[in-house]
Amino acid sequence: MSAEYQVNGQIAVITLNNPPVNGLGHATRSAVVAGVQQALQDEAVKAIVITGAGKAFSGGADIKEFNSPKALAEPSLHTLINVVENAEKPVIAAIHSVCMGGGLELALGCHYRIASAGAQIALPEVKLGILPGAGGTQRLPRVLGLEMALNMIVSGNPVASEKLASTALFDQMADGDLLIAALAFADKVAGLRPLPRVRDLRVDYPNSEVFLQLSRDTVAAMAGPFPAPLKCVEAVAAAANKKFDDGLKVERELFLQLVQTTESKALRHAFFGERAASKLPDVPDDTPIRAIKTVAVIGAGTMGGGIAMNFANAGIPVTILEMQQEALDKGLATIRKNYENTLKKGKLTQEKFEQRVGLIGGTLSYDAIAQADLVIEAVFEDMGVKQQVFKRLDEVMKTGAILASNTSTLDLDSIAAFTGRPQDVVGMHFFSPANVMKLLEIVRGKQTAKDVLATVMALSKKIKKTGVVSGVCDGFIGNRMIEQYSRQAGFLLEEGCTPEQVDKAVENFGFAMGPFRMGDLAGNDIGWYIRKRRYLEQPQIGYSKTADLLCEMGRFGQKSGAGWYDYQAGDRKPYPSQVVSDMIIRHAAELGITRRKISDQEIVERLVYALVNEAARILEEGIATRASDIDMVYLSGYGFPLHRGGPMFYADTVGLPKVLTAMEEYARGRHGDAWKAAPLLLKLAAEGKSFN
Ligand code: 3HC
Ligand code: NAI
Repeated sequence: MSAEYQVNGQIAVITLNNPPVNGLGHATRSAVVAGVQQALQDEAVKAIVITGAGKAFSGGADIKEFNSPKALAEPSLHTLINVVENAEKPVIAAIHSVCMGGGLELALGCHYRIASAGAQIALPEVKLGILPGAGGTQRLPRVLGLEMALNMIVSGNPVASEKLASTALFDQMADGDLLIAALAFADKVAGLRPLPRVRDLRVDYPNSEVFLQLSRDTVAAMAGPFPAPLKCVEAVAAAANKKFDDGLKVERELFLQLVQTTESKALRHAFFGERAASKLPDVPDDTPIRAIKTVAVIGAGTMGGGIAMNFANAGIPVTILEMQQEALDKGLATIRKNYENTLKKGKLTQEKFEQRVGLIGGTLSYDAIAQADLVIEAVFEDMGVKQQVFKRLDEVMKTGAILASNTSTLDLDSIAAFTGRPQDVVGMHFFSPANVMKLLEIVRGKQTAKDVLATVMALSKKIKKTGVVSGVCDGFIGNRMIEQYSRQAGFLLEEGCTPEQVDKAVENFGFAMGPFRMGDLAGNDIGWYIRKRRYLEQPQIGYSKTADLLCEMGRFGQKSGAGWYDYQAGDRKPYPSQVVSDMIIRHAAELGITRRKISDQEIVERLVYALVNEAARILEEGIATRASDIDMVYLSGYGFPLHRGGPMFYADTVGLPKVLTAMEEYARGRHGDAWKAAPLLLKLAAEGKSFN
C-alpha cells in the first residue's frame, strides 16, 4: 500500500505509506491523487488531511525512480500538486519528522500546513545536483521571503520546523499528537472560502535585483564545478521577477537541464553509493548485531588517538592501552590538545569538550580493557608486534568481543590466526587524521563472522564514517590502487615533468591535492619503507627511484622541513625546489632518458587510468563488492573530485573503449608492463558495458 485512505468524521485522511521515507514514487502519487478525488466526490467529507506513515512526512521524489520512465509517468508530481492546490475542499498537510524536496513541494501545494516541532524541513535537491523541480523555487520564497528561501534552496540544508513557526509556511504548530491537532484544525477551516493558495502570494523584497546580483556573485564563487547552485538562484530570481506560471516554466527548464549533467549524475551516484556500501549481498539487513557500549584502543600513537576520538565524539567511552606511561601520557595529551583547538575555534562547546575528554581514559593493563565490546589495535606496523598483541587479546578479552586491527598492509587472516577466535577478528582501516577522514575500510577476513561485519558497518554509521568493505589483499582497496597512481607519478618525473606540474594538472582535474604535495604532507618515508619491503618481496615491480633519492636526502616532507617542495619555517606553503629538480634531471640522465614536454592530459590520464585498471582487478577478484564501493573509497578517502563521481564512474563517463585506447598508447612507452589491461576492463569494453 503506497497511501492509505480513511475517513474520520467529516475529514478524509490520506497517509503516505512508501517506506522508508514515503518517497513520492509513481504508485504513491497515483494513490494520493485517487484519495483526493475520492474525498472530493464524497459529500460527507469536508476537508482532507495529508500526512505520512512511519519516520517521515515525505523525503521527496522517489530517487530510486530517477532516470526511469516512472519518474515522469502521470500523475507526475506537478499533476499531483495541481490536483491538491485546485481541490475545492481544503487540503491540510500534517508534517512531522522529515519533509524534504518533493515532500515540501507537495505541502506547499496544500492550502494549509500544520507541523510538529523537530521536523526537518528542506529542499535538498541541490545536493543531488538538481533544483526543486515541482514548484519549490517558486512557492518557498512566497512563504519564507526571498532571502531565507534562497538560503535554504542554495544550501539544501534542513531547518527545524520550530524555527520556521512564525513564518507563513506553517499555519499552526501542533502541540501533542499531530493527527489530532490536524483533524481539529481541519474541522475549523472546513467551511472557510476562498481557499488560500501559496501561488497567489507575492514575493515582497525591496531592491530584490540588488540582493539577487549579490547572491549570484557569492554563489558563483562558492559553487566550484557544480552548475546547480547558480541555477537555483536563477529559478528563485524568476519567483521574484515573473508571474507564478512563468516562473514555474523557468524552474522546469532549468531542472531538465540539470538532471542531464554529469555533475548531477555523479552526485546521485555518490548518494546511492554511500548507502549501497553499507550492504553486503550475503549479510542480510536483519543480521543481529552485537552491542558496542565500550571500546578499547591499543596504541596511543598517530592513529590510536584519532580513532579513540571518533568514539568519544559519538558518546561511547574508550580506554587506550599503551606499553609505557610516557607514551600513554603523550597520546592523551595530544588528544586533549586536539579538542582544545576545536574548542578555541568555537566549534565545540565547553560542555561537549569536557564530556568528550572525560570519555577517554588510559591504561597500561590488559585487565582494564577485558570487558570492552570492541578493541581496535593500532600498534606498530610489524607482524611480530601484532602477534604479541592479538595473542594477549585472545587471552583476556571477554567472549563475543570484536577484535579489530587498523593495519594498513598486513595480512588480516594471519593476524586472525594468532587468536583462537578468527570469526571475531576484522580490519578497521581508518585514514589519517582518523578523527577527520570520512573513510573506514572494513576488512573482511576469510573467517570474519557476518554479525561482526554487520556490527562494524552499523558502527561506522554511528561514528559518521563511510564504511566500505574490502577483502584481504596488500593495501586493500584504496592503497592498492594508489600504488599504481604513485608509480605513474614517479615515471612522469623521469620522463619530463616537475612535481609541481604533475600536482597542478591533477589538482586542475579536481583532486584535493596532487601526489607530491600529498607525499610531503603524509611523510615520504612511509612509502620508502613500503618500497624497501617490496624490493625484497616483489623485485619484478618497477618503481622510479626519484622518491628513494629524495628520502636519502632526508627530505621526508613537511615534518622534516623539505620534501618534493621547499618549505619556509612556520609555513605549509610549498615552493618549487631547485635541488629536487636537479636531482630528477640528473637521475633521468643516468637512466639515459631524453626528457620531453608532457601534456596535462597525459598526466591526468596516466594517473587516473592507473587507478581504474587496478580497480578493475580489485573488482574482478571480489576484493570490492561493487564498482560504486571503489568510488566511495576514492571520494571519501583520497580526495577524488566529487563532480567526477569516483574513478569507476569517471571511466564510465569517458567510455571504457576510450580508456583502453589511451592505455594501449601508454603501454608503448617506458614501463609498458604497468599498462597490462585488467581482464574485466577488456571484457566490459568489448561488450559495450560499463562498471556501474
Ligand atoms: N526516495 C527514495 N528513497 C529514499 C529517499 C527518497 N527521496 N531518501 C532516502 N531514501 C532511502 C535511502 O536510499 C535509504 O534506503 P535504504 O535503507 O534502502 O538504503 C533510506 O531511505 C534511509 O536513508 P538514510 O540512510 O539516508 O536515512 P537517514 O534517516 O539518515 O536520512 C533522509 C533520511 C534525511 C530522508 C535522507 O535519506 C535524505 O537526505 N534523503 C534525500 C532526500 C532528498 O534529496 N530529497 C529530494 C529528492 S529530489 C526531489 O524531490 C525532486 C523534486 O524537487 C522534483
Ligand atoms: P605510531 O608509531 O604513531 O603509534 C603506534 C603506537 O603503538 C605507539 O604509541 C607505540 O608506543 C604503541 N605500541 C607499540 N607496540 C605496542 C604494544 N605492544 N602495546 C601497546 N602499544 C604499543 O603508529 P601509527 O601511525 O599510529 O600506526 C599504527 C597502525 O595504524 C599501523 O598498523 C599502521 O600501519 C596503521 N595505519 C597508519 C596510518 C598512518 O597514516 N599513520 C594510516 C592507516 C593505518
